[in-house]
Amino acid sequence: MARTITIPAMLDPHVHLRGMEWAHKATFASETAAALAGGYWAVFDMPNTPPSTITLPALERKLGEISAQAVCDWGVYFGAGPIADAATYQAVIGRVCGLKMYNNATTGELLIEDQALREQHYRAWQPQRPIAVHAEGRTVLDILALVRQYRAPTHFCHISLSEEIDYLQAAKEEGLPVTLGVTPHHLYLTEADIPALGAFGLMKPTLKSEADRARLWQAIDSGIVDVIESDHAPHTLIEKAAERPPYGVPGLETTLPLMCLAVRERRLSLERLVDLLANNPRAIFGIAAPPDTYTNVDLNVDYVIERARLRGASGWSPFEGMRVTGKVTGVWIRGRHAYDGENVLVPPGFGRNVVEAAA
Ligand code: DOR
Ligand code: ZN
Repeated sequence: MARTITIPAMLDPHVHLRGMEWAHKATFASETAAALAGGYWAVFDMPNTPPSTITLPALERKLGEISAQAVCDWGVYFGAGPIADAATYQAVIGRVCGLKMYNNATTGELLIEDQALREQHYRAWQPQRPIAVHAEGRTVLDILALVRQYRAPTHFCHISLSEEIDYLQAAKEEGLPVTLGVTPHHLYLTEADIPALGAFGLMKPTLKSEADRARLWQAIDSGIVDVIESDHAPHTLIEKAAERPPYGVPGLETTLPLMCLAVRERRLSLERLVDLLANNPRAIFGIAAPPDTYTNVDLNVDYVIERARLRGASGWSPFEGMRVTGKVTGVWIRGRHAYDGENVLVPPGFGRNVVEAAA
């Protein structure tokens, strides 16, 4: 018998959809279809896919492609580049979901290690939209110093270390405007899985120890974690087979079933799942759920994650072979039946920019 739950307007605020110069990895069409299959109403695309979204022409190019192709709703980040220009930030603020600042090395060309330049970005950015940061280890403390000074709402992406939880817990107790996300791969995998996973176990931040993993679950339980974000980062099988494979794993289609599995295993409540995957990300980014926008999930369906079931263009998952629970049986967006559990029912370009829709 089906046991269907309804989740309002699921939002993944951390995905790398590709397209443009990396359309060989994936496209806005393929990955927004994967988002629907994963149960999402909307996804927020990161700026590191070339050409990096750090100039107005690059933003225009991305907005053009994604508007034409998307089958779910979406937002895009502007990226913090080598110069912090308040006039540019003013020009983009009505069209982007936030600013992304890379403070440690990862895939793509964006990296800011100079604290003075980081500060210029904090000073130039318009604080009505959050700054999302990639910051690992003690770099979290460097960013917290800027949050303390400028009070700009800051979302710490893909937290993976116990030590980082300590820093952010203290920051919340201090009253700083900070939130944090964790990924399913840091919740379910550790560095001990890398020998078996090979290149499919390589991403940034890297997989960590069992103690770190346990701490992340504890931080979910105690309410410190605000968001589960997939950090969906498709690379082709050929690229992953190379001698120096790129960092990143796809996750849009496996995040919800992995979190439903956690509910089944009593690691979190259903109410908390809905907060982490839907209510909190919308609240953090100041985006209201559109009317008649929800996902139905049958919690009584179990299945094994297999390549043949995946819609994303990369066609693999670090969770292959794992038995999960929760089948997406339908996604409704603004009253339209967008996905029926098997098929995408809306045309390319159906998806809207949630930021402009909110304006
Ligand atoms: O592993 C990663 N891959 N981490 C990131 O921060 C970027 C991503 C990508 O774009 O491939
Ligand atoms: Zn990322």
